[in-house]
Amino acid sequence: MRDPEKLWADLQEAAHYIQTKIPEKPEVGLILGSALGPLAEQIPHPVRLAYQDVPHMLVSTAPGHAGEFVFGRLADKPVVVMSGRFHYYEGYDFEDLAQPVRLLKLLGVKTLILTNAAGCVRTDWQANDIMLISDHIKLMGASPLRGANLPQLGVRFPDSSTIYTPQLRTLALETAAELGQSETTHEGVYFFMPGPQYETPAEIRAIQLLGGDAVGMSTVTEAITAAQCGLPVLGLSLLTNMAAGLSSTALSEEEVTLSGQASGARMAALLQAILAKL
Ligand code: HPA
Repeated sequence: MRDPEKLWADLQEAAHYIQTKIPEKPEVGLILGSALGPLAEQIPHPVRLAYQDVPHMLVSTAPGHAGEFVFGRLADKPVVVMSGRFHYYEGYDFEDLAQPVRLLKLLGVKTLILTNAAGCVRTDWQANDIMLISDHIKLMGASPLRGANLPQLGVRFPDSSTIYTPQLRTLALETAAELGQSETTHEGVYFFMPGPQYETPAEIRAIQLLGGDAVGMSTVTEAITAAQCGLPVLGLSLLTNMAAGLSSTALSEEEVTLSGQASGARMAALLQAILAKL
């Protein structure tokens, strides 16, 4: 079992290291999925810190994930963008995946925005639509909060009834309407699957029955950790493809990447407009 005192000391060392390198405290943390990486390019005069230079930080291995913190301003808000996230399928334990969000909390972040690429499970929605995450289902594997509890960061048994902050969802829906994106923006439930293989058609039918609207391999560990340490969360999924069995084509990383590139700009515009209102 991990030693809580060492976990806490390591987190503090990482946060102190970062604090000596950045010009101002970030207010909003963004963890960007494969589709949204380019948003970090829109930060003028960014300060970049490679994960590998931060003491005790996990190292990112997923394709399309740069593996760096980018500090600066987006829509004039002080932000930290994690360009490159950590996934269970890379080989981390669920317990490891609490670390990045805890670090953002120690850096002073007040709101967390999580984005991802996901498969569309709803047959009345379309690939390239955006889903605001209203809730999630994670039936598989351990919690990121398993093991040593850090009482400095939260309680042992956190409430999970509003992990995705209702006020932020309302704000995001209003903003999508202002941008003329209402028809392609939905609210729904993100169903976590561990990957890295995409789901089988039978698994997607099961997810439909269980109440999932989108399916993906990330985000939930970060959202659970944020809820424990009292960070409001906004989650956005770019539905890069119809889930397995719902379209005639096989799923591929290329389809996910291409669709992400095609619609990423729309989601980036939505995010910028939301940030301006925070
Ligand atoms: N399933 C799981 N994860 C995904 C998908 C999918 O269909 N598309 C993008 N990420």
